[in-house]
Amino acid sequence: MLQGVGVGLSVLRHGLVYSSVALRRRMLVSLEISNKDPSYEWFLTWMAARSAAVAEAGAKAKPWSLSFWTRSHNVSVQTVHEQRKNGSSNVSFKLVAGPGTHFLRYRNAWMQVKRERETRSQQLMSGIPWETVTLTTLSRDRDKLRGLLAEARDMALQAQEGKLVINTAWGAEWRPFGQPRRKRPLKSVVLAEGVAERIEEDVRAFLQRRRWYEDRGIPYRRGYLLHGPPGSGKSSFIQALAGELSYDLCLLNLSERGLADDKLIHLLSNAPEHSFVLIEDVDAAFNKRVQTSADGYQSSVTFSGFLNALDGVASGEERIIFMTTNHPERLDPALIRPGRVDLSVLLDDATPEQARRLFLQFYRGSEGVIQDELARMGAQVEEIVRNAMARKQRTSMAALQGLFIRSGVNDAVTGIQSLLSSES
Ligand SMILES: Nc1ncnc2c1ncn2[C@@H]1O[C@H](COP(=O)(O)OP(=O)(O)O)[C@@H](O)[C@H]1O
Ligand SMILES: [Mg+2]
Repeated sequence: MLQGVGVGLSVLRHGLVYSSVALRRRMLVSLEISNKDPSYEWFLTWMAARSAAVAEAGAKAKPWSLSFWTRSHNVSVQTVHEQRKNGSSNVSFKLVAGPGTHFLRYRNAWMQVKRERETRSQQLMSGIPWETVTLTTLSRDRDKLRGLLAEARDMALQAQEGKLVINTAWGAEWRPFGQPRRKRPLKSVVLAEGVAERIEEDVRAFLQRRRWYEDRGIPYRRGYLLHGPPGSGKSSFIQALAGELSYDLCLLNLSERGLADDKLIHLLSNAPEHSFVLIEDVDAAFNKRVQTSADGYQSSVTFSGFLNALDGVASGEERIIFMTTNHPERLDPALIRPGRVDLSVLLDDATPEQARRLFLQFYRGSEGVIQDELARMGAQVEEIVRNAMARKQRTSMAALQGLFIRSGVNDAVTGIQSLLSSES
């Protein structure tokens, strides 16, 4: 008899479990987003912005909704570096939904948000733990999930519109580094006559020729090498050009700890769309054959591994690589052959004309100087640099910029004079 009751209860219990599973299957719909997908960050940011807004509105109107949000929240902190319009930056913290279960209401639908971290396994290439966010809602509200994701995406893209995103390598994955930055106007980088145009036109021409490459079965990629003394504008120009073309940057440091040939290949063949890969100081990575840092760590990208990664698997993916060096003479000829470096350009110390243009750019619109006078001073600047060059004295654009930042318009000319007479 008692046994009968026991069996009956367990049948009942099983039945309940069964029916709730069946119910879940029939009535609920779940969407899983893994942290490999860009929508993962978009969603968390969207949810953070939304719960902040809800909490604020709730505090005003209905106190109970505030308590709901604060009580159910297991939050994580994300540090956000923000760059202001004037170039200064700001660090703030964004509270995002932490691991655990949360609820939110979106367009009259309740959704369960479950954020989970997989602690046992890590992503193969990057070593970053897997994470997922699972959104669950009623089947009849499934379309709202799509709307929600679109909203999150638009919010993220809007935040970076007109900005330059800089990605760095995280293991073998690319991740945005800091917040999107304000673009630098291309014209603000003053290169010797025709140089900027030559590079820009080459990149633009390449971008128009995808079909041409495809038809001939040639990998659709192009490599650029900007070489020349420090402070000539190599990095600035590449950054500004990326902004001009609405491209992002992927910064690659070949001597980075933990980077090995296999990861490098993965990185170069998986750069985000519409981005330039920028490898600074290419000569330095392989210069000292075995590079050992203070803690005994050896950089493990080999030169042949690097060449392999540059050549990559022939895919239809577009790839634009920029490399910079102060010492082109130290580069192995194997690196600078066509297909790896297709255009090699010297960015040199300031020419007289560059100095004048930078001067005018800095002091145009300065108070108390009339246009004619500025033009006359510009001519003086040009003259000083020309005379110095005749004596084999040169100065970098970076040094001129430094001088112009320090000096008022009336001190600039004498400043250049002493800059170029004290340098030997
Ligand atoms: N050609 C240039 N035009 C305007 N500014 C320049 C130029 N070259 C260098 N600068 C300034 O000097 C600094 C260093 O320039 P950077 O691009 O890092 O030089 P590089 O990469 O050639 O060493 C930057 O602040 C940049 O604004
Ligand atoms: Mg540089």
